[in-house]
Amino acid sequence: MKNEDTKIVSEKLPHLFSPLQLGEVKLAHRVVMAPLTRMRSAQPGNVPQDMNVEYYSQRATNGGLIITEATQISPQGQGYPATPGIHSAEQIAGWQKVVNAVHDKGGVIYLQLWHVGRISHSSLQANGALPVAPSAVRPSGDAYTSDGRMVPFETPRALERQEILSIVDDYKIAAQNAQKAGFDGVEIHGANGYLVDQFLRDKTNLRTDEYGSSLENRTRFLIEVAQAVVKVWGGGRVGLRLSPFGSFNDMGDSQPMELFSHAVGKMAALGLAYIHLVEPRQDESPGFDTSRWASTPMGTLFRDKFSGAIIAAGGYTGESAESAIAAEHADAIAFGRNFIANPDLPKRLAAGAELNRYHRDSFYGGTEKGYTDYPFLAQVVPVEDKKF
Ligand SMILES: Cc1cc2nc3c(=O)[nH]c(=O)nc-3n(C[C@H](O)[C@H](O)[C@H](O)COP(=O)(O)O)c2cc1C
Repeated sequence: MKNEDTKIVSEKLPHLFSPLQLGEVKLAHRVVMAPLTRMRSAQPGNVPQDMNVEYYSQRATNGGLIITEATQISPQGQGYPATPGIHSAEQIAGWQKVVNAVHDKGGVIYLQLWHVGRISHSSLQANGALPVAPSAVRPSGDAYTSDGRMVPFETPRALERQEILSIVDDYKIAAQNAQKAGFDGVEIHGANGYLVDQFLRDKTNLRTDEYGSSLENRTRFLIEVAQAVVKVWGGGRVGLRLSPFGSFNDMGDSQPMELFSHAVGKMAALGLAYIHLVEPRQDESPGFDTSRWASTPMGTLFRDKFSGAIIAAGGYTGESAESAIAAEHADAIAFGRNFIANPDLPKRLAAGAELNRYHRDSFYGGTEKGYTDYPFLAQVVPVEDKKF
């Protein structure tokens, strides 16, 4: 009898291959494709092209969620060569082909909305203008130039108040364009040191107006962006990605737990479908102590602030993903590098099959090589797994 009970309980526990209600969207399983910049859009114009259609189509599964690579909301929002945009008619038409291909396989696809702020270079900006940011704080490290060279970052220009309102409007237009392209929803990129994150954290936001200083003020830009996007899509089809303890792109904050608890609470009030949390990596944190948090799954830190779903990402394997779901630390797990190398990742995880290894040298830019030529699992998987 005791065994029976245990069995019933364990069958009811959510696991990686059980369905999930994500806001208004029902997913058939919880293996999410993480947003992955690949710098392979058609030039000129940063337009999604045939090889991008093939890449996303290969990775689509029936009822599985794909979050696209970060996509600039405006020319100013671009920080790397050949990343796609969602601000021109050609780009909308290009994305529409990607969306149709994913939908043909029964997949669900969200567009990640991106403004890089200071993580750009004047060669990528109109008329060679300086990149913009909340404050004129230069990141350490190197920027990509328009022709793919690496040069030290420039000191960005601090945004005027009026310009901030105009960027919020760019997010709204980009959200509308995503609807025109047929996406199922959008994810606001608030992680990894780009513009939203630059407003949130006090290492990059030194403003003294209503967009800086207090937690309330530093969260204002995010809230205005989220409100604008929710107005277009409704909260049930909007997610937000955050990396509360990440230091990538020279980021940091003096009180991360307080800041991000506040921000997540505000997103709950807007009715967002999900928060997508990036686990900090121990190896990317020179001078910034993530060790205090790194052993704690992000979901557990913010779960009580948010009633929607939590997606977690960063260093997950099939096994650790399964445990995180079973322990309810997260409702779904996003996979990055393993999805690059394994077009049929959900199927492989379901079968416990071996994974292809990824090749770093073809992550950013290039051709179909290292993009659409990773092999699928040979036909050794039982027929019932065909649904993937
Ligand atoms: C090549 C590459 C490109 C990435 N591009 C993005 C991006 O466009 N937007 C984003 O939020 N994160 C991006 N990331 C971070 C991934 O979404 C993910 O959080 C990270 O790879 C950790 O997950 P993993 O250990 O499963 O790879 C990128 C990571 C890699 C390796």
